[in-house]
Amino acid sequence: MMVAACDNMFRYQVVYVLILISSFIIVGQAEKHLNANGPFGKRHKFNNEPSPYACDRGAGVSSSIFPRRNKVVQTIQVSKTAYMSSEQIQITWTPILASCKDDFIGIYYIEIPLTTACDYFDFEFVQNKQSSMSWQMINLRRPLEFRYYSRDNTCSGNYSLIAKSPTIQPLNYNEPTQIHLAYGDRIDQMFVSYLTNSSQYIPQCQYGLTSSSLNFRQSGTTTTYTASDMCEGKANTWGPQAFIDTGYMHTILLEDLRSSTTYFYRIGTDEHGWSSIYSFTNRPADKNEAVNLITYGDMGLSPVEPGAKSTIDRVTTRVTSMNITCLLHIGDISYARGVGALWDAFMTQIQPISARIPYMVGIGNHEYDHVMGGDKDPSGAPGPGGFRPDWGNYGYDSGGECAVPMVRRFHSPSNGNSLFWYSFDVGPIHIIYYSTEHDFRYTSSQYKWLEQDLRSVNRSRTPWIIVGSHRPMYASETDEPYDFIKIMLQFYLEPLFYRYHVDVNLFAHKHSYERTCPMYKQKCVSDGITHVLIGMAGQDIDSGEYSGAEWSIYHDQEYGYSQLWANRTYLHFTYYHNDNDALVDQFVLQK
Ligand SMILES: [Fe+2]
Repeated sequence: MMVAACDNMFRYQVVYVLILISSFIIVGQAEKHLNANGPFGKRHKFNNEPSPYACDRGAGVSSSIFPRRNKVVQTIQVSKTAYMSSEQIQITWTPILASCKDDFIGIYYIEIPLTTACDYFDFEFVQNKQSSMSWQMINLRRPLEFRYYSRDNTCSGNYSLIAKSPTIQPLNYNEPTQIHLAYGDRIDQMFVSYLTNSSQYIPQCQYGLTSSSLNFRQSGTTTTYTASDMCEGKANTWGPQAFIDTGYMHTILLEDLRSSTTYFYRIGTDEHGWSSIYSFTNRPADKNEAVNLITYGDMGLSPVEPGAKSTIDRVTTRVTSMNITCLLHIGDISYARGVGALWDAFMTQIQPISARIPYMVGIGNHEYDHVMGGDKDPSGAPGPGGFRPDWGNYGYDSGGECAVPMVRRFHSPSNGNSLFWYSFDVGPIHIIYYSTEHDFRYTSSQYKWLEQDLRSVNRSRTPWIIVGSHRPMYASETDEPYDFIKIMLQFYLEPLFYRYHVDVNLFAHKHSYERTCPMYKQKCVSDGITHVLIGMAGQDIDSGEYSGAEWSIYHDQEYGYSQLWANRTYLHFTYYHNDNDALVDQFVLQK
């Protein structure tokens, strides 16, 4: 008893000293991902190109003279004026004689004034004598047009309109897009979600055991959100580079599904049209059946982020060619950060995966962190900005979204707190998602829920426990500034996870891969927790140095993804590089 009391006193003294130290350090880590992802697949950087993206280069950028020197506006030819989501449109034009390096072609809502060059959704610079380019379309549910702007006065003046395209629009404004699956509370349940431009008709799912017999029908519900539902900043602002009309999110909860059974389905309505037919295989109920999971974090937008594109391509190949049970994406999902069209682009990007397997998401700083959201925070965290201890570097990383787009778009079991913390069983694995963006100290509701959930796990039913969150508990990559959240996760949650014999702790946030030995309190131990950093899915890659910690078994800084296969006695974790799909790290745990 005395030993335990001294131990606790020592812990509190350590925490107190750490808090004192941290209070003298300027917290609030700067936004390190300053790329301006384009929803139509164009990559931009704020600081190292003459980008019109932010429209902040001073005079001569934010308005234009129309048309240039009273000349006729030319026509941009388009390969099609009506398109399906994800289709390519080729555009062609006649090159001008005197072009500037920051002349560009942008894509606009047609109602944006022609004199407002900078209110585009996305743009690509026009190279000298260039006469064509390709655009990958997403369904933004509104008429769009391409415009070519060139700068006046030997490239020192305003932008003037040179050419524009005819109106282009979706073939179906209510095309069922952004289709994704998620597990519900019970093993016989599955959420099927999609998005259209309308809430006029009740969303439907037709499903069955073969693609030619979709005999079962289930109807669902519809929701949406608007700028004022979110917390602050860009998310509260209307505009093509901020909030746009989101359309309507439809969700159907399928029930009475058989375990380990393949179902074919389509979603939509007779009035607005139906999706293609997809299939999924429900998770097993038998603990003796093996499961096969894909896991990653920190993806971002493909093809803007080349790593994201290669991850999507590799994982799509796996999902369509082998039995993958579900996917775990543990935070930093789209990096939309208040730019609505980026959510449309991301949800479109994952559909080849998420229409076929449950896409289970956890919360990251880029979905949640806010400063003054208060009651609008859907997690119910107290205070104006949620959990913001002096020792944390919690910032403004969601662009004011404070997870509202997440909770309206994605689904999860309801046994915890929405998407912020919850748990579910997949075959012989009990999976727990927890939030490093919320209070995880002893007295917090999250800690209490975690302990209760861990205590209730039936290890003969699910011999494996995997926990997943966004920020690392262990990572030997150099931290700048020093990462006190990591230390606090070790202090508060590592003993809890060790006590309940958690097998694997997954996290991301750092954009790299690292795997530890089974460990506890900085030491390799035979009954320890294996920690795996899987933040290498696409949104940039880290280049920091490593400390050489003994517990770090393998690390690298490459784009990739990981897979976790398990039956009741054997767990095999594998990590693959995207560039050649080579297996570069693996470990086995046995019961
Ligand atoms: Fe992150």
